[in-house]
Formats: sequence, C-alpha cells, structure tokens
Amino acid sequence: MKKISFILNGEKRFIHVEPNEILLDVLRDRMGTKSPKCGCDSGDCGACTVMLNSKTARSCMIFAIETDGQEIVTLEGISKSGLTPLQKIFLEQNVFQCGYCAPGMILSATELLGKNPHPSRYEVQEALAGNLCRCTGYTPIIDAVLELTKKQV
Ligand code: FES
Ligand code: FES
Repeated sequence: MKKISFILNGEKRFIHVEPNEILLDVLRDRMGTKSPKCGCDSGDCGACTVMLNSKTARSCMIFAIETDGQEIVTLEGISKSGLTPLQKIFLEQNVFQCGYCAPGMILSATELLGKNPHPSRYEVQEALAGNLCRCTGYTPIIDAVLELTKKQV
C-alpha cells in the first residue's frame, strides 16, 4: 500500500492504494464518486471518463497510484454549483435514454466547448467519437451540443 493524494473535485483527498488498483475502482468504490461508470473495462467505451489535469482520460486504464499529486474532476465536480448549460440542454431535450454514457459524454463535450465554443458538426462528432452510446444513435446528443453553441453567441 502507498499513500497518495490528489485533488478530487476541488478537494484534497488522501488514500492508501495498492500498486495495481485502478482509478475507476478507487473513485467508485472508495471515494464515493459514482459518475464514472464501468462499461468495457478496456479503454474502448468512454463510460469511465474523468478529467485528469483538465483533459479527458479513461479512468479504467489508469492506475490510481499514477494520479498522486494530480487533479481529477468528475461529473460531480462540474455540477457542484448546479447543472451546467450543457447539462441543462441535454435534460431539456431528453437526449439520453438509459444514461449510462451520459457522464462521459458530458465531460467530453465540455472539454470540446472549452477549447472550441463553436464547433462544426464534424468536430462534435469527432470529440464524442470515443464515447459509445448503445441507446440514442448519437444524433440527439450532437444536435443538443450544436443547439447550445447557437445560444452562446
Ligand atoms: S470502462 Fe473505461 S473505456 Fe470503457
Ligand atoms: S443513453 Fe444509454 S448508453 Fe447512451
């Protein structure tokens, strides 16, 4: 076991981890942070997406020990003071069905809009390509992101 610390959703957290403990498991099972989900456990689906040092990362592919001294933000973190405009439009337009992909989709779209507030449809598709959704066919999600960009002139 090694003691590590990281900033999780704005708070410094300390935890003892085994060298082979996966970040996704630590977040969900030991830190009470349930928004990252286990979909494939092999880096393919994006359900486990978190922000690691301001960039999206797949928490199923990262050893927790690697995050010592780093900053992690999950969906809980971006919604601390209420739903973001992106979350609101997703909700208003009822874009998700089961919602399993939603945390990862929201973080990936948030990252995109942070870098590029007026992306093209292709750029949205490209940014969300690593987040698989088995329910929606993607169109409502992409349409809602583009709709939001029109409101943010
Ligand atoms: S659970 Fe991590 S990418 Fe699928
Ligand atoms: S809404 Fe079910 S996986 Fe996306």
